[in-house]
Amino acid sequence: MKVVDCTLGLGGHSEEILKRIGPKGKLLAFDQDEENLKRAKKRLKKYLKQITFVNLNFEHLKATLAKTKFGAPDAILMDLGLSSPHVDDPERGFSFHKAGPLDMRFDRGQKLTAEWIVNSYPEEKLANVIFEYGEERKSRWIAKKIVHRRKEARFTDTLDLANFLISIMGWKEKIHPATRVFQALRIAVNRELETLESALHQAVAVLAPKGRIAVIAYHSLEDRIVKTVFRHYTQECICPKYLPVCQCNFKKKLYLLTKKPIIPNGIEVRGNPRSRSAKLRVAERL
Ligand SMILES: C[S@@+](CC[C@H](N)C(=O)[O-])C[C@H]1O[C@@H](n2cnc3c(N)ncnc32)[C@H](O)[C@@H]1O
Repeated sequence: MKVVDCTLGLGGHSEEILKRIGPKGKLLAFDQDEENLKRAKKRLKKYLKQITFVNLNFEHLKATLAKTKFGAPDAILMDLGLSSPHVDDPERGFSFHKAGPLDMRFDRGQKLTAEWIVNSYPEEKLANVIFEYGEERKSRWIAKKIVHRRKEARFTDTLDLANFLISIMGWKEKIHPATRVFQALRIAVNRELETLESALHQAVAVLAPKGRIAVIAYHSLEDRIVKTVFRHYTQECICPKYLPVCQCNFKKKLYLLTKKPIIPNGIEVRGNPRSRSAKLRVAERL
């Protein structure tokens, strides 16, 4: 089998895939984070001949398959979002519990950081980011407060921003008041939703017949994109409803294997609390 792991991370899934595809199987593994790629290489050292490592965003899926002459994949996996080292290392700037630079880049070679967004985006653009990617109802008000504060002192530190958000919003819900703003910044910095949507369309286009795509999403925005793109390709026709005869020539491309997403059970969540919001959807190419 030829398998693509779009989100290699620390190589846990890839290792299990390699065990199952046997010595003749091939794996193409993406991660835009160079440090994770290095960690995974160490872990997978006995399989190196079978793996092509790609230090790029998975939005380059189609072009990379062509460039490497990998052929049509039999399976494509996406395990979206952050890996544990991102959350645990304050230097990466993802955590609102520990002081670190306001960074949040998966790819440390890129220019855009959370610090830039927080300190340089015009108020309205900042509010839109917080609303669209954080689904935060008070986005306009929060953006206004941030803009006011940054005139006196720039935000450069994660804990400073988190404490500022606590100070203006209070702590009324179960979740930390900074949760939605941090999620929004992370998604904006890494263009997570655009790249996901683009890569999903590419994945459907490149999969071998009967090939499968599996995606694990961790928040509703990414899960909605997966659900919508999968549903799009399970349709027979995409003509507007008022047309009496089909004119679209659209071909159904996917069969859904998970009508509802697979979620972890209580035992799994107790063993691995970071799995608690995971939703797995799988589809098969016709
Ligand atoms: C949840 S972790 C994957 C963990 C992995 N399945 C494992 O077993 O260790 C997600 C990884 O994908 C990477 N990643 C996230 N979005 C990406 C993208 N658009 N392109 C390439 N890599 C991405 C992150 O840097 C991170 O290392």
